Amino acid sequence: MVSAQTVFLAFLVMPAVALAQTKRPPNIVLVVADDYGYRDIGYHGAEFATPTLDKLAAGGVKLENYYVQPICSPTRSQLMTGRYQIHTGLEHSIIWKSQPNGLPLQYPTIADLLKGQGYSTHAIGKWHLGFYKEKYTPLHRGFDTFYGYWGGGEDYYTYWSCDWSPHQKAGSNRKMCGYDLRDMEEPVSDMNGTYSTLLYTKKAVELINSTATSDQPFFLYLAYQAVHDPMEAPEHYIKPYEHIQNKKRRIYAGMVSALDEGVKNLTEALQHTGLWDNTVLIFTTDNGGEVHSGGNNWPLRGAKHTLWEGGVKGIGFVTSPLLSKKQMGKVSTEMMHVSDWFPTVAAMAGVKVNSTLGLDGYSQWSMIRDGKLSERKEILHNIDILYTQKGKKLFNNTFDTSVRASIRVGDYKLLCGDPGDGTWWPVPSTNQKELPSLSAAAEERVASPESIEGADVKNLWLFNIRDDPNEENDLSTSMPEVVKHLLDRISYYNATSLPPVYPPSDPASDPKLHGGFWGPWR
Ligand SMILES: *[C@@H]1O[C@H](CO)[C@@H](O)[C@H](O)[C@H]1NC(C)=O
Ligand SMILES: *[C@@H]1O[C@H](CO)[C@@H](O)[C@H](O)[C@H]1NC(C)=O
Ligand SMILES: *[C@@H]1O[C@H](CO)[C@@H](O)[C@H](O)[C@H]1NC(C)=O
Ligand SMILES: *[C@@H]1O[C@H](CO)[C@@H](O)[C@H](O)[C@H]1NC(C)=O
Ligand SMILES: *[C@@H]1O[C@H](CO)[C@@H](O)[C@H](O)[C@H]1NC(C)=O
Ligand SMILES: *[C@@H]1O[C@H](CO)[C@@H](O)[C@H](O)[C@H]1NC(C)=O
Repeated sequence: MVSAQTVFLAFLVMPAVALAQTKRPPNIVLVVADDYGYRDIGYHGAEFATPTLDKLAAGGVKLENYYVQPICSPTRSQLMTGRYQIHTGLEHSIIWKSQPNGLPLQYPTIADLLKGQGYSTHAIGKWHLGFYKEKYTPLHRGFDTFYGYWGGGEDYYTYWSCDWSPHQKAGSNRKMCGYDLRDMEEPVSDMNGTYSTLLYTKKAVELINSTATSDQPFFLYLAYQAVHDPMEAPEHYIKPYEHIQNKKRRIYAGMVSALDEGVKNLTEALQHTGLWDNTVLIFTTDNGGEVHSGGNNWPLRGAKHTLWEGGVKGIGFVTSPLLSKKQMGKVSTEMMHVSDWFPTVAAMAGVKVNSTLGLDGYSQWSMIRDGKLSERKEILHNIDILYTQKGKKLFNNTFDTSVRASIRVGDYKLLCGDPGDGTWWPVPSTNQKELPSLSAAAEERVASPESIEGADVKNLWLFNIRDDPNEENDLSTSMPEVVKHLLDRISYYNATSLPPVYPPSDPASDPKLHGGFWGPWR
């Protein structure tokens, strides 16, 4: 397996110029926060403190025209491969634990690429790119080591989770639950009671300590469980926020504080070991904040699950002593997308990715390091043909506006079909009562293939995001020629798409049949 990938990678990458041979490539630490809302960092006005993240971002490049996908697996699949979801078959929903689905094996991951360049490669925390067969799990996708969980979410202390797949509920009607924590591939059962942000940080610091004396550069993918639901944090992180009366927001503030401290411990370990001088640290969220679980994206419209800015405009920054001086402290408004990390990280390692391979990402390393312009002019936010509504088809000879899709071209953004709830969710105020949890029915609607009825349902919006970042002024009727152009661009991408892969839930995945743990069953 490894050798097959190595052979493949020999074609994929071209060793870059002499520079790479004389200088040791940098260590790369990629920290991913889960469901971390746009509003919820100090420099975007959070009402709680994130001193470490603020300080790191202030010394590096803040990415302020940076986009992710609206939900977990899609963002992670694009981050790992540099390809849009429509090009991997993952354009619909997430990978549920009970689904025989995974990131297709023919696409090399960032870890495959870096391993091929002599890096040691390590993943800690959340995977969520499939595990129904062993070959979809991290150690078979380019990582030398793994410590974490293979699914999408669980309890922060017990590492226990159930499958909420809509298919599963509709089908066997049997709720399946089990543990999900692994060291390499071995189930871990002695961590009950340890909060995962502390656990994953400790593992990361141990790793940094132990690689300090190695000659090899390393890649650390640290995908925290924080700050996804359930709402849990050790009491002392929540205590400073007793004045926040909204309970979920209060606990969320504590969860973010623990995350911030985790990143502090991580960077201190890099500094103490001397590794920091040759390290690039990337921080990104995976999608917009979940407003029903304490997150917030104000003043952006919409939230996690939706194609509105609140779902897709992400927190992201890069910091490193290797940036040029003028970039330290820069706020970048160059357009960047999560699919850009694959070629960007490759460039950090001194590798030029062969552009004939049809990646959707662009290298942003010279934009980040040197302040060059981004090559990216468009972002396909998504096309989901399994999610249509019976609204009117508004234009002939172009993309059908009843299908859920969205694209950004220059300053313009088009949304069609049902983009999800477009509410501007305010920051939960101190005396406001809690937002209800997203009901099971709403979760299903968000996640499952179904058609929404109604001939007159509005299904088209156009915004100038530069002038109107909060999507208040719909231009779709006043600028029909721009609408047509953007729909044509979606049609262009649609013609290149692979059919969505979204298999039914498999009862054989039940952890009861596998020693109580979620794990490969085929
Ligand atoms: C984990 O700890 C909780 C709370 O102490 C307890 O209820 C649960 O049974 C424990 N689970 C295991 C597998 O030990
Ligand atoms: C990492 O190394 C530092 C310095 O030697 C030490 O203080 C710390 O306990 C180590 N941490 C872990 C988790 O191994
Ligand atoms: C950070 O390190 C301190 C000191 O070792 C420790 O008490 C704390 O729990 C750590 N925090 C996290 C989030 O790992
Ligand atoms: C890029 O990949 C293609 C197909 O694998 C190969 O034919 C071509 O020689 C490669 N280009 C470079 C510059 O390596
Ligand atoms: C699309 O074509 C049909 C059939 O020619 C026509 O009746 C309809 O008005 C056209 N719709 C639009 C939006 O141009
Ligand atoms: C999108 O592409 C698919 C597959 O090529 C095709 O079946 C479908 O008709 C296209 N949809 C639209 C709205 O153009």
